[in-house]
This record gives sequence, C-alpha cells and structure tokens, in this order.
Amino acid sequence: MNTTDSSQLEGDIYLPAPAITANAHIQEYDNLYQRSIADPQGFWADRANELEWFKKWDQVLDDSNPPFYQWFVGGRTNIVYNAIDRHLKTWRKNKLALIWEGEPGDVRTFSYFALNREVCKFSNVLRSMGVKQGDIVTIYMPRIPEQVIAMLACAKIGASHSVVYGGFSVEALAERIQDAQSRVLITADGGWLRGKTVALKQIADEAIARQATIESVIVIKRTGQEVRMEAGRDYWYHDLMALPIANPFCCTDELDAEHPLFVLYTSGTTGRPKGILHTHGGYMVYTYTTLKYVFDIKDDDRYWCAADPGWITGHSYIVYAPLLNGATMFLYEGAPSYPYPNRWWQMVEKYGITILYTAPTAIRGLMRFGDAWAKRHDLSSLRLLGSVGEPINPEAWRWYYSVIGRERCPIMDTWWQTETGGFMISPLPITPLKPGSATRPLFGIEADVVNDQGQPVPAGEEGYLVIKKPWPGMLRTILKDPERYKTQYWSKFGNMYLAGDSARKDKDGYIWVIGRIDDVIKVSGYRLGTAEVESALVSHPAVAEAAAIGLPHDLKGHAIYTYVILRAGHEKSEKLAEELRNHVAHEMGPIAKPEQITFMDSLPKTRSGKIMRRVLKARALGMPEGDISTLEE
Ligand code: WT7
Repeated sequence: MNTTDSSQLEGDIYLPAPAITANAHIQEYDNLYQRSIADPQGFWADRANELEWFKKWDQVLDDSNPPFYQWFVGGRTNIVYNAIDRHLKTWRKNKLALIWEGEPGDVRTFSYFALNREVCKFSNVLRSMGVKQGDIVTIYMPRIPEQVIAMLACAKIGASHSVVYGGFSVEALAERIQDAQSRVLITADGGWLRGKTVALKQIADEAIARQATIESVIVIKRTGQEVRMEAGRDYWYHDLMALPIANPFCCTDELDAEHPLFVLYTSGTTGRPKGILHTHGGYMVYTYTTLKYVFDIKDDDRYWCAADPGWITGHSYIVYAPLLNGATMFLYEGAPSYPYPNRWWQMVEKYGITILYTAPTAIRGLMRFGDAWAKRHDLSSLRLLGSVGEPINPEAWRWYYSVIGRERCPIMDTWWQTETGGFMISPLPITPLKPGSATRPLFGIEADVVNDQGQPVPAGEEGYLVIKKPWPGMLRTILKDPERYKTQYWSKFGNMYLAGDSARKDKDGYIWVIGRIDDVIKVSGYRLGTAEVESALVSHPAVAEAAAIGLPHDLKGHAIYTYVILRAGHEKSEKLAEELRNHVAHEMGPIAKPEQITFMDSLPKTRSGKIMRRVLKARALGMPEGDISTLEE
C-alpha cells in the first residue's frame, strides 16, 4: 500500500486488490492531498488544463466577495464542447457514448458522433422556438436518451436546464416551472415503470394549468399512450426533429466560465425548494476530475450510474462527467426488479458493465430477494462499485461487496450533495475501506467536523460537517435568492460551508457521516423537506395543520410519518387517511407518500408557534423528549 499504512488503521479494514490498484489513475493519496491543500489554485489549474478552453482564465479563483466565489474567471468555454465536440476530433468519434435499455427490453445506442448529431438537431429546434442564452428550460422526462439529449442541447446554446425528476408530480413540477419562469417545457407522453406507463403528459398538463409561464411544450413519444395535445402549444419531438430547421450542424456557444449551466431544485430546511445554480467552467473541471479519480474511468470501461438524470447524481455522473471523460455509459429506464429481481444483474452480464454506482436503498431492496438472483449471473466484468445518497449500513455494504462484487471490487462510498456539484468525501480505488465510512476528503477539499463554536471536535465525537475552503464544483447561489444562499450555507461559522449533516471523524481521519441535522428527510436516498410534505397536506380541504417527520425504515433508510389536525366538520377515518396519503402523492410524487397519518387534536409547539418535530420524533421512537422547556402544551 502506498497510501496510509493500513496496518496502522483501526477497525474493520478492506484492502483493495492489487489487480484493481495496479493501473489506477491515482496511486498515492497523502502527498497529493497535502499538495492540493497547500496550493488549491495550482491543483485546479492543472486539472482545468486537461480540458479545452476557447480562452484560458485570467484568475483561477476570485474570492474577493465571499461567499460569492467565482472560478476560472475570464475563461471562455462550454461544457458541451468538452463533453462532445472535443471527442469528435479523435477516434472516440465512433466510440459508444450511450447504451440505453428500456424497461420493455428495447435497446438504443449512440456513438459520440450520433449523440452530437441529435444534440445539434435539437439545439437548432430549441433556437428556432426562441430559446436563448439566459433562458431556463424545464425538462420533465422518463429515463430515456432524449432526456440526456435535451439537457446537452440546452447547454450547447447557453440556455440553462431545470430538470424536474420524472417521479415528481403536479405541484412539485408547477412550483419549479414558476420559480424558473420557464417558457418551454420538454416532456414525454409517458415512461415505463414496473410494466405500467406513467402519465407524465397528463401531470404536465395539470402543472401547466397552475402556473403562467409555459408557452410551448415539446413531447417525446415514448409509450404511445393516448395524450391530449393542445394546438399552438404542444409539439411532438419527432415532428420538430423532422423539420429542415433541425439541421445536424450547430455551433457550440462560447460562454463565460461562470455562465449558468443548470438550476436543480432541492429541498431545504424551510419553505419551498431551492434552485441550486451551477455554472459551466468550475462544474466541468470538478465533475471531470472527481469521476476520473474516484471511478478511475478508462477508455474500455462500461460505466453504469443507476440514478436518474433528474437528480444531481445523474446530472454530474450520468450526463456530464462520463462524457467529459469520453466514457461509455449505460442508462436503464425502469425498475430494478422488473420483471424479476435479476434484471440489473442480467444487464451487468449482458453489457459487461465494469463500474456500477447506486444507492444503499436500491442495494437493500435487491438484497431482500436473496443471493440466488445475483449468483446466477456472471458479474466478473465488474471492477468498481459505488454508493451514494445516505450512509450505507454495514450489512448492505457487505452484501454488495461479497454477493455483487465477489470480494474483488472496492466500494466507493461517495459523500456529496446537490450543492457540492460532485464527490467531496470518497475513497479512491487505492484506499483501505471501512464499511459505512466515506473515508477521506478528495483533493482540494478541506472537510472537517466542528462544534457549535466552529472548533474541530476530538476524534470520535459528533459535530457539524463543514468544508473550509471553496471548490470549483460548488453551487454559486440559490436562484433569485442570494440572501438565502448566504444564510443557509455560510453564516453559522463565518467563512465555512455548512453541509447540514452531522458526522464523526475517527482516529485515522476517516469521516463517518451520520445524517441530516435539519428538517430534511432522506427517503430512499431522495431528499425531501418536511415543509413541502406539510404544505401538500394542508392543501387538502380536510386538513387544518400538519407535521412531518422522518423515522427509520428498513428499506428506505427513513420514511415519512405525518401528524394531522383536521378542520372542523371532518371526521378521522381510515378512508380519509388513505385519501390524504394519495393526495400527497398526487401533489408531490409517489416518493413523498407518507408511510402513516396520525390524527391529532394538537401538535407539540413552542410558545412562538413552531412545531417541535424533535418531540414528535422522540415520542414515536419512545425516547426521552429532551429539553422541552419551550414546549407550550
Ligand atoms: C445529502 C445530500 C449527492 C448525491 C445524492 C444526494 C446524504 C449523500 C452520502 C454518503 C452519507 C450521504 C447527506 C447529504 N448523503 N451521500 N455517501 N454517505 N450520506 O444528494 O439529494 O443533495 O442529498 O445526502 O445527508 O447531505 P442530495
């Protein structure tokens, strides 16, 4: 081992096999980490120099107005130029960029050449519809190649995309469209999930009726189900792509490094979802570098990130970073256990997947079907595994490691967030692993665990997870709300980024993330705000007040439990509880459907009227209620 001497490490250690480490891009951690921290700007400039720029930057980092940091200032680039155009000048032109399998089993493939053609055509379509630099286009799609094409087509012409996860529903979509002021929505007639079609267009129609900005809707025909098309507003994608305007040649716009690339909404502590803003230059350098180092991407890899492009994991590590690295990625439309629990393993075998990146909730879900489904398949192509979204419990880690990885594949447990743009704390293929720990910060990242005063806590003690210096992939602001950006992330400790997680650091400097410390619930790795679930409940005519909390759940990690006070004239019943659960699913999406609704006559509140969710949680778990001196009851 040429990283930390593993014989000195404490706990349950798994060493990566020599076959894995031998050719890894990164062969050594400690020295390179020290150097990257001593001179982060030099480190990032070297990484940026591996990519192409229309014009190089004048300044790597402008930190004159914290926390509004800017990276590669004065540089001119476009992430699409590096993700696609750059490869067309090389042999990679004819390399597969994307292999896609639909849930019914249909397969489509795109070389870099073919992907470029589709993106160019669609960029021209968007331009002809008046989309221009600075616009935000909303994308609401199933996991199909056109989702990737649509995102890239926006970026190519300097428009930003706002992708709304296809599992979200009416109100979630409507408020995101409204906040982004999108004039164009790209969607599909539906998508396949567990043998059924999802009514995306119908949900989109309902959402459009609730906001005032959408002028045009582009609809991809995926399932062929009957949908309503509104004349003068709705257009079929295939009709537009057949017009002469959909020319296969389109220049990639030269943009400022700090030009906005996308907005992605995520749940915060209070109120409505926040539009997290990322920009071309820094995000490009950061996602490119982190994927290369952590998943050790090589030209002969078949890389599969099983997330949805609609989440940050998909933005960074399905769409952008694999293409920036010239990799071949795999995308699958449907559910992991459809039609049988071996679906994923069958596809790993069929396509020779070498890197599989997924979430603990999916691992637990597949683990419950037993080992036989995986054991039937030849999974020997796999060389690296990954995990993201929540802390992985050691039981799931060991199953993933032994049954899927056959004890050959190290697990990259990557800690990061929508806001961070890319991996922050993660092993490299050479890192000795401890199940359940994301191990150590990546190059250029100064992560620490601190107490209320911002002082590092002793090894083994719990504290706030913070990042002490800016990094290129960081969010730049919250759309239209720079004040909230400042107070939410940068005000508690002065100049440190507050992640919103609690964590511990052990004697070896390994970081163990414990979970959210705010009112964010991680359900199956998806991030939901208690405030959003509560407002969905209160939008039902029978509900006067509501509180939502997350409680531990075997498969989902956490599940949503809700407490409801009914309006006068409404009676509690099983039927009403079911109706309320369905109402939340209809407004927000199936992932937000509460596990349970409990009818209450009152809710524990502070004297100033704030719901004490902590008390509800303690009561539900039969734990001490803690300090309830502010409780008014
Ligand atoms: C929150 C961010 C970033 C991709 C998906 C989630 C939790 C994420 C890990 C991990 C422990 C993790 C944190 C974080 N989280 N990865 N490897 N170990 N916790 O992005 O929806 O923005 O959620 O996910 O609590 O704050 P997100």
